Amino acid sequence: MSNDWPPQFIFTVCQRGAEQVLKQEIAARLADARLAFSRPGFVTFKLGEPCQQPEQFQLPSTFARAYGFSLGKLVGSKTGELAAQVWETPAIKQLVASEGFADIHTWQRDAKLSGTRGFEPGQTLLAQEVERVIRERSPIESLHPMPAVPRPPSRRNGWVLDVVLVEPNEWWIGCHRTTRRFDCWPGGVPPLDLPEHAVSRAYLKMAESLEWSALPILKGDLCLELGCAPGGAAQALLDRGARVLGVDPAEVELEVNEHPNFQHLRRRSAEVSRRQLHGVRWLAADMNVTPTYTLDAVEDIVSNKATAVRGLLLTLKFTDWKLAAQLPGYIERVRSWGYRDVRTRQLASNGREICLVALRSRSQRRVQRPTHTRRRKDAAHASMPKPPHLPANG
Ligand SMILES: C[S@@+](CC[C@H](N)C(=O)[O-])C[C@H]1O[C@@H](n2cnc3c(N)ncnc32)[C@H](O)[C@@H]1O
Repeated sequence: MSNDWPPQFIFTVCQRGAEQVLKQEIAARLADARLAFSRPGFVTFKLGEPCQQPEQFQLPSTFARAYGFSLGKLVGSKTGELAAQVWETPAIKQLVASEGFADIHTWQRDAKLSGTRGFEPGQTLLAQEVERVIRERSPIESLHPMPAVPRPPSRRNGWVLDVVLVEPNEWWIGCHRTTRRFDCWPGGVPPLDLPEHAVSRAYLKMAESLEWSALPILKGDLCLELGCAPGGAAQALLDRGARVLGVDPAEVELEVNEHPNFQHLRRRSAEVSRRQLHGVRWLAADMNVTPTYTLDAVEDIVSNKATAVRGLLLTLKFTDWKLAAQLPGYIERVRSWGYRDVRTRQLASNGREICLVALRSRSQRRVQRPTHTRRRKDAAHASMPKPPHLPANG
């Protein structure tokens, strides 16, 4: 493992169990990359040659939750000694002397699959303590204080020092640029918690998908959700000021059902009449069915002339990992409906599934307020507020 600059190794972080699909994805996208090191949830690759423009490097990947340049590993049991060695890594010294670091991200490899036995990816107490010591030893004074709680995202377009605790005594050192939103969160995990009032864990999935995609959903927008029971994802939308039309043959929790901005259509997606979809601007789906079934249901709605759905937010469930190979075909299918801007990501809160968001064009990522309300001073059509437990995002 080389720790030279320009760098030739990359590290990736993924959900436990997703390593194989990640390797296949990287093989398809970076033809000259070779697998270097692999542990559950952490995989490194050697590029064909050193990356000549490291600040421009981007890895288009659905399954890499986070990635960066890998600059070697440190093994030892004394946190202070390892922290001092981090700053002695040649490539790190070089970056400190040239561009400097805007932030430090320290996290542990996932211990389990997200959502199993109470486990959620995120910064552990051990990772926080290690980060504190690394900051203390930093030659960059502005990095000495620990970030506020909840942790604000790192600022955009800077270098971040990555320290991944693959084992408590085996640290992998790396760095990445904060180009996209998820680059600004340690390990690609946004600082979100499942709030107490959430009726299901799907709240977290919806909250994370909104944080990642930054879909321009406005307060008062009508969102249709296929597979809404028991109602956690709907709550996340309601908490942000949206109105929700939930479709599911199963029962929705009372507190969601009684929300003035929620309406339940207790039936299957195929049984919803088009008249009931008038005014729907966003379509979310999280049904425990195959991706093809979900896409059939969504196509049935968006291809109907009576509907004008602006964007999609779909959970595609891989009942079998083999279905991941079909992902390019699923994306093509969504594009064929006129949604040209399609993004996919396996969220930290996802199970064996991925999140797909789609807009008709990339320019629609910006918030577009209805013309007649543009000059209003009241909040009727303001973009959706964040619920109180969420930090502001950059
Ligand atoms: C993973 S759960 C959804 C969780 C939900 N989004 C939440 O926030 O709590 C999957 C749901 O899909 C529903 N479902 C399965 N097939 C469906 C269909 N054809 N139409 C509507 N809902 C369906 C199931 O009844 C189940 O409630």
